[in-house]
Amino acid sequence: MSIFRFLAAAAVLLLPVYPAQPVRAKKAMVVSREAHATDAGVAVLKAGGNAVDAAVAVGFALAVTHPSAGNLGGGGFMLVRFADGRKTFVDFREMAPAKAGRDMYLDASGNPTKDSMIGWRASGVPGTVRGFELAHKKYGKLGWAKLVAPSVDLAKKGFPLSYGTARSLKGAKNLAASEESKRIFLKNGDYFEPGDVLKQPELGAVLERIAKNGPDDFYQGETAKRLAKEMADHGGTITLEDLKNYKAVERAPLEGKYRGYDIVTAPPPSSGGIGILQMLAVLEKTKFAETGAGSAQSVHYMAEAMRRFYADRAEFFGDPDFYKVPVKQLTEKKYTDKLRASIDPSRATPSDEVKHGEIDVKESTETTHYSIVDAEGNAVAVTYTLNGGYGSGVTVPGLGFLMNNEMDDFSVKPGAPNMYGAIGGEANAIVAGKRPLSSMTPTIILRDGKPVLVVGTPGGTRIITSVFEVIVNVLDFHMNVQDAVNAPRFHHQWKPDRLQMEPGFSPDTRALLAQRGHTIETVAGICEIAAIEFERGGWLAGAADPRIDGKAAGY
Ligand code: GLY
Repeated sequence: MSIFRFLAAAAVLLLPVYPAQPVRAKKAMVVSREAHATDAGVAVLKAGGNAVDAAVAVGFALAVTHPSAGNLGGGGFMLVRFADGRKTFVDFREMAPAKAGRDMYLDASGNPTKDSMIGWRASGVPGTVRGFELAHKKYGKLGWAKLVAPSVDLAKKGFPLSYGTARSLKGAKNLAASEESKRIFLKNGDYFEPGDVLKQPELGAVLERIAKNGPDDFYQGETAKRLAKEMADHGGTITLEDLKNYKAVERAPLEGKYRGYDIVTAPPPSSGGIGILQMLAVLEKTKFAETGAGSAQSVHYMAEAMRRFYADRAEFFGDPDFYKVPVKQLTEKKYTDKLRASIDPSRATPSDEVKHGEIDVKESTETTHYSIVDAEGNAVAVTYTLNGGYGSGVTVPGLGFLMNNEMDDFSVKPGAPNMYGAIGGEANAIVAGKRPLSSMTPTIILRDGKPVLVVGTPGGTRIITSVFEVIVNVLDFHMNVQDAVNAPRFHHQWKPDRLQMEPGFSPDTRALLAQRGHTIETVAGICEIAAIEFERGGWLAGAADPRIDGKAAGY
């Protein structure tokens, strides 16, 4: 057989038989969790805005149309790779208020209370509006008010709820924590149905002030004063001083290499970027890809890489402004060679034999991600969140926006489980002014200085493994981006020692993995990827995740 025939046969074996098709466009692309928000981004791009402008507009729009995670009252990360090669990472993660302290969520017996999860005390100081301000001031092209305008319209005029959003509102038990949340997110005490129009006049008024008076309205103006007053009246911890003192910061993105590709990803306080670099480095010299996507061999190697990363994760991670995260040690060759050598190709390593801390890591799966590329070739990946779905459940009376419960992403009691069963380490203990550890992993991949893939997702700790899998699906299994997003996912996080797998893997694969010693748990709906691939021929291929009702659109 000639080498060409051999390569063609190998390619057929590795490629999916029925490729799904992404949305393709030549100039620009927006992929987000919600159709109106995607449309707002496209409109800004068509009006001459760049990808950063569009990212600000999409973020404000999602605060209206995707209330479980889109936000003004939360925080997140924006990763940008400019067409001229510059890169930046805007960290607008929430900060612990000045009154916060290590034991603030412990009762008299030293046991964790539910206050870090629900109600007025659960919130960190929101960062979203300052983050968008920083990105826009430094890198945007259009006027600020133009970027906020679509969200004002969506809030005031209302928008028809999608099936997914109506269903999500129905399931949002924590909204019962606040009369204002019930008033806004229920239809006269009843659930909204798909197609019902949700109007949010109070939120519209806040957005209008932010458009007119600028971001300072949120941090020291009318909105700030009202928020601080409501906090004080309800026993919350955030003061006007906290709002005034909040700062979004720029950090250098984390960068690494994988098989000739350059990986640009999230630095601490995200744990995600280190995870991506470490897991890819562990895979690099294995034969994991030989048997194709979804085979027992590839899943085994990837799951073993995941297991080893998660053993490190909570022990060594926290806010880099307060704790020296050993980024280099966790990603350098000497260490990743050692991790790879410890993988038995034919047996799952019991998690009890993989050491570092006694930490069970689990977080909220409710966050949101969007990816944008503009006509100049600038690429932006934003992941932002309220932490749990609908955050703390508290909508600030008169302001119409939900507050985050991001304080629960700290180790509320180092060594004790948080709302999602997480047991955190000392590095992530609560300190006033500190940012909680995150899994959010906006990532951009390049080859020879040109962008290849923009990717990210919500999903708590499963963010890191899902981004990892989509990268591998595109780079190693040569799937188009839609197939890469659609492919069934799996997740291992060291403890509990279980391999979570979506339905869709063959029974043979599952049986072979079980024979290797993996304990399999079937889990539906792992993450909601929003990705853009730069395809050959100059096409931008946008992939919204079919697990949800998101939208990719371009021109
Ligand atoms: N709150 C979810 C995260 O930051 O990863």
